[in-house]
Amino acid sequence: MAFTLPDLPFAKEALGDYMSAETLDYHHGKHHKAYVDKTNGMLDAKGLAGASLVEVVRAAKERGDGPLFNNSAQIWNHSFYWQCLAPPEGQRPTGMLAEMIDDAFGSTDNLLAKLKEEAVGHFSNGWAWLVLDRDQLKITSLHDADTPLVYDGMKPLLTLDVWEHAYYIDYRNARPDFAEKVLGNIVNWEFVARNMDGEGHKRADQEG
Ligand SMILES: [Fe+2]
Repeated sequence: MAFTLPDLPFAKEALGDYMSAETLDYHHGKHHKAYVDKTNGMLDAKGLAGASLVEVVRAAKERGDGPLFNNSAQIWNHSFYWQCLAPPEGQRPTGMLAEMIDDAFGSTDNLLAKLKEEAVGHFSNGWAWLVLDRDQLKITSLHDADTPLVYDGMKPLLTLDVWEHAYYIDYRNARPDFAEKVLGNIVNWEFVARNMDGEGHKRADQEG
């Protein structure tokens, strides 16, 4: 079996002006799909046919196999990213997640400001992350295709893609505007809260 391009968990027009259907056509339909196709093209030769996506990412990292790591990690990163987004309905963190955010950052607004700062300050391609790191909420960013999957104790909660392909159609070069609009309006906080169980890595996994 080969890996597949997961469907978007919302209608392509559902994110409105915050993220256009055209962006999703390219980002999901072309960029994400290319990572799937390239990974599938490599698996047999690597002796990893039948391994799950998370297993492939971790094996590629251990082997120092850059092309396989980059492409497979980008399948997983994007599969996770789409689930972090939801149509703008005024959603905010609630319950235990909101309490942990208040304890760690003072308020949701402070968290969003810090996450935006991380996203904007990250040089070149990569991903801004909110993670549980040994049960502490932490903001970090990772370069290129790098992913929390390969760091011990780092549990993914929320991510923002800061590759130019994520925002150039809707925001041109204005990464700060993109980060502010997306983080402030179309985060799926229910998904983020679900990931507090430490099982977020499984939610973007696929059987091999
Ligand atoms: Fe991307």
